[in-house]
Amino acid sequence: MAGELEVTIALLHGVNLNMLGVRDPEHYDTMTLAELEGSVVIEARAAGLACISFQTNHEGELVEKIQELRERAAGMIINPGAWTHYSYAIRDALELVEGPVVEVHLSDVESRPEEWRHHSVIRDVCDYMVAGKGAAGYSEAVEWLAERLKPAG
Ligand code: DQA
Repeated sequence: MAGELEVTIALLHGVNLNMLGVRDPEHYDTMTLAELEGSVVIEARAAGLACISFQTNHEGELVEKIQELRERAAGMIINPGAWTHYSYAIRDALELVEGPVVEVHLSDVESRPEEWRHHSVIRDVCDYMVAGKGAAGYSEAVEWLAERLKPAG
């Protein structure tokens, strides 16, 4: 309905996630980022949420986007890629986000052979985490946010 207030969420992707479709399908499936973003936007819309999508390979740009959206987005879904494991800058930016934040990973980071993937520096400032479920993990994140953000009554 025209003039209806809309609840907006953000879908944020970090470094190398623009290469989905080319990266190892064993961990990342075969869909492209555009396909993934498209399906999240549709799922969000079905749950009554507008969704802003953004990806960057520049850490400062992701920090600036988080700052820009920290009050405007009612909730966030973020997959920072490798920054998950070492970016205190992104962690500190997320700490200022007002709404709930969901950390999502396509692969099961904690059971991958590289030890450095087992630790997330953003985990303590996120409200929910999904890993190892591929694109379905994003659907879970949308559902989780929709449940918390739906208007009372
Ligand atoms: C990832 C896991 C990270 O370890 C990796 O660096 C990525 C993607 C995932 O979605 O499984 O780029 O966040």
